[in-house]
Amino acid sequence: MIEPPPGAAPTGRGAASRLRCSDPACGTWLNREEGVYSCPRCGQLAELVLEIDPAGARSWRERWRARLPGRDAAGRSGVWRFSELLPSIAPGVDAVTLGEGGTPLLELPQLAAELQLEGLWVKHLGVNPTGSFKDLGMTVCVTEARVLGRGVVACASTGNTSASMAAYAARAGLRALVLVPEGQVTAAKLAQALDFGAMVVQAGETFDEAFHLLRQLAPRLNLYLANSINPFRLEGQKTAVVELLEQLDWQPPDYLILPGGNLGNVSALGKGISELADAGLITDLPHLGVVQAEGASPFHRMWAAGAEELVPEDHPETRATAIRIGRPANWPRALRALLRTRGLTAAVPDSEIETAKRRLAELGVGCEPASAASLAGLRRMRQSGQVPVGARVVLVLTGHQLKDTAYVEEHLAGLPGIRRAEPTLEGVERSLLGWL
Ligand SMILES: Cc1ncc(COP(=O)(O)O)c(C=O)c1O
Ligand SMILES: [Zn+2]
Repeated sequence: MIEPPPGAAPTGRGAASRLRCSDPACGTWLNREEGVYSCPRCGQLAELVLEIDPAGARSWRERWRARLPGRDAAGRSGVWRFSELLPSIAPGVDAVTLGEGGTPLLELPQLAAELQLEGLWVKHLGVNPTGSFKDLGMTVCVTEARVLGRGVVACASTGNTSASMAAYAARAGLRALVLVPEGQVTAAKLAQALDFGAMVVQAGETFDEAFHLLRQLAPRLNLYLANSINPFRLEGQKTAVVELLEQLDWQPPDYLILPGGNLGNVSALGKGISELADAGLITDLPHLGVVQAEGASPFHRMWAAGAEELVPEDHPETRATAIRIGRPANWPRALRALLRTRGLTAAVPDSEIETAKRRLAELGVGCEPASAASLAGLRRMRQSGQVPVGARVVLVLTGHQLKDTAYVEEHLAGLPGIRRAEPTLEGVERSLLGWL
């Protein structure tokens, strides 16, 4: 491996960290100041490498606890309070934050009993400022855009990335450009990006097409990319795993299951788990489980076949639009995360996503369709025995219920639903016949 350039670690708050090619076989050191996303030598994505000293890490848990909301004089967000695991920010630069993180971990004992599990929790990342887990990464990514002095941030998106990026760009006073597949983004997500003042360009039929265009446009138009190929996004997103371990009193679950689209989030959580293990804060690594929608499941197919190369899906199809992705950019590092954690995958049809979403709603837990894929996948993994009886499982819910209200309207069958009544006491009572 090539030695890091001397003195290249930036100074300031956060951990000493350097940018390197994420392919261990290459390992080329990259220049953070150039704002690169991939390795010029082999083309693999760039990632931040933190210098972790396990002796120093022994005090981290107490430090993080002392920075919980209400206790921290510096008022750090639920992401920035884990600064020991985050790349440093140059002195004089303020983090671009909207108070992200600090999301609930909810125990679901009924569902645990139903699935014969010892414990089942949902980590609800949809309860973030713009309603998705993307905020955890965007605060770090847009802060880096500010560090680098960039003027325009840009992303291709199935909706949540655009909503989040537009918000953080507005907070930072930067301009935001969004490319979305035409007619494939929910009204709520589009409305968020528009409300925060982003320029929205509809181009192509799939996320993959829009993303391909954007990657070519970025150098031509000097755009700073905020997709999950941006290494700083993953740094923020990985804090979800630290927070949930803290909420479980540092007793890691056996399985941590999440939906997969472009596979940035599983890569981020895998990086978080690896770093906590390297720091000596956990010894048992949770197995990462990736769930994809059946019509958009190239990663599941690759893993199930034991293949070493991903075969893209040119026409991804699923009603869970957030994960309608056929060419996941992060598949090599997602693969490494699954190998490191002895992970697992599942592919679920849209009908099972619907059933899972309904079951969560019955328990008072709302989420968008893609998020419910976690539970649908867990059911499959229990049926196949991949997840054994008596396991402790955390499901990651990635997006808020209000992200896709049209979905709810399309799936009212079996619910009490809406009835019309004459505006009189008798009229309303009559409308409730058979229900009360
Ligand atoms: C709600 C939701 N869940 C899951 C995903 C998939 O995340 P990733 O692309 O990091 O795999 C996305 C991505 O847009 C999303 O918006
Ligand atoms: Zn490389």
